[in-house]
Amino acid sequence: MCNNNLKTKIGLAIIGCGDIGRARAQFARMYPAVEWIGICDINLELAKSLADEIQADFFTSDASELLSFPEVNAVIIATNETAHYTPVLLAIERNLSLFIEKPLAVDFYQSKELLNKIISAEIDAVMGYTQRFRQRFLVVKEKLVNNQIGAVTSISARGLLNRTIANMVLSRANDHTNITPMVTSGTHMLDMCLWLIGECKPRNIFARSTDKVFGFSGSKDTTTAIIEFENDILLSMNHSWAAPENWPGGVYGMQIGLIGTDGMIEIDDMHKDVILASNHYQPPGYKHNSTTTNEKLGTSLRSRNVDFLTSIPFGQRSQSEMWGPIREETFSWFHRLITGAKTPHTTAREGHENLAICLAIDLAAKTGRILELPENLNDLESYF
Ligand SMILES: NC(=O)c1ccc[n+]([C@@H]2O[C@H](COP(=O)([O-])OP(=O)(O)OC[C@H]3O[C@@H](n4cnc5c(N)ncnc54)[C@H](O)[C@@H]3O)[C@@H](O)[C@H]2O)c1
Repeated sequence: MCNNNLKTKIGLAIIGCGDIGRARAQFARMYPAVEWIGICDINLELAKSLADEIQADFFTSDASELLSFPEVNAVIIATNETAHYTPVLLAIERNLSLFIEKPLAVDFYQSKELLNKIISAEIDAVMGYTQRFRQRFLVVKEKLVNNQIGAVTSISARGLLNRTIANMVLSRANDHTNITPMVTSGTHMLDMCLWLIGECKPRNIFARSTDKVFGFSGSKDTTTAIIEFENDILLSMNHSWAAPENWPGGVYGMQIGLIGTDGMIEIDDMHKDVILASNHYQPPGYKHNSTTTNEKLGTSLRSRNVDFLTSIPFGQRSQSEMWGPIREETFSWFHRLITGAKTPHTTAREGHENLAICLAIDLAAKTGRILELPENLNDLESYF
């Protein structure tokens, strides 16, 4: 059991009605124990259209108004990356169970403050690191827990994002401080590596970044880092969100290799196993109106006719429903709220530590020095 605040029925508030909020709202409508649903987006038209689509009980553009309803006992925060802090704070003040899309916040101080408040209020708060719910990674985790490759000594990880995603994320943030490849997308790969290693403290970081494509926006293209953990485990990571729009991986690909004392595991997650070639244009990205979004962003719409069909890691729509790990992750959270079941969700504490490491990687790359990490990652405060 991991939750001392079990519910018999769920009254759910969903804040943020973009692609991710919409998918989660559709799952909420399907789940029998979700009795009441309220929807919020600062774009009232969007909130209304999602409320109509899933027959929600209430919609508004004001998160505070929604969270004041006595029916609400759980909240999904699916606002864009820079807009998590205020609604999470409102939910904590009302002692509501939380599901927060990554990252907890993009600012270290805000993230630390939210985590401290979550801990003191004893709130069950989990985060949307959806890749943990994919069968391939669950199987690998199980083999590691059962010691099938002995003690892990090194991990090498490569992540590749189509630059359409970087353009989208940068375009929806007014302030690009900390909107880097590590903080907004490498965080998924880091979560996977940290989860696979298990409890283990990072000791120091060497990192470098390139910025020839996104430097103009104050962001970076690619970051390479080597992290040394206690027990001498080494993690080397290379994460780029600058793959060209024409790269057939429309969203996210990974390669992760683990070496242990008694074996090794290789994970090829570049999605080259289901390939479409078509005479029709295939938009990259995961927005349901990607073509329009690309035009709005001013990115060049080149000919793109080949697509790795399963490169949207959280799932994809088929016959008007979303399928994939986002479905299992959302249902599994509802199940956790009702039964207290132990689930693989990333906790808010893990999410905060993940942000701390991402920011430390970016800092190490900026200063060019090997960054010695404090015993307690919260003491990184003085570094930023
Ligand atoms: N779990 C995953 O695998 C996964 C995948 C992609 C994105 N994400 C994360 O999910 C979140 C949402 O991503 P998205 O692509 O759906 O974004 P989006 O831009 O499509 O939607 C975000 C919505 O939040 C609304 N919003 C912003 N501030 C608000 C506020 N204060 N109150 C109410 N509404 C507000 C915006 O109007 C917008 O409609 C992000 O944090 C993103 O990083 C998670």
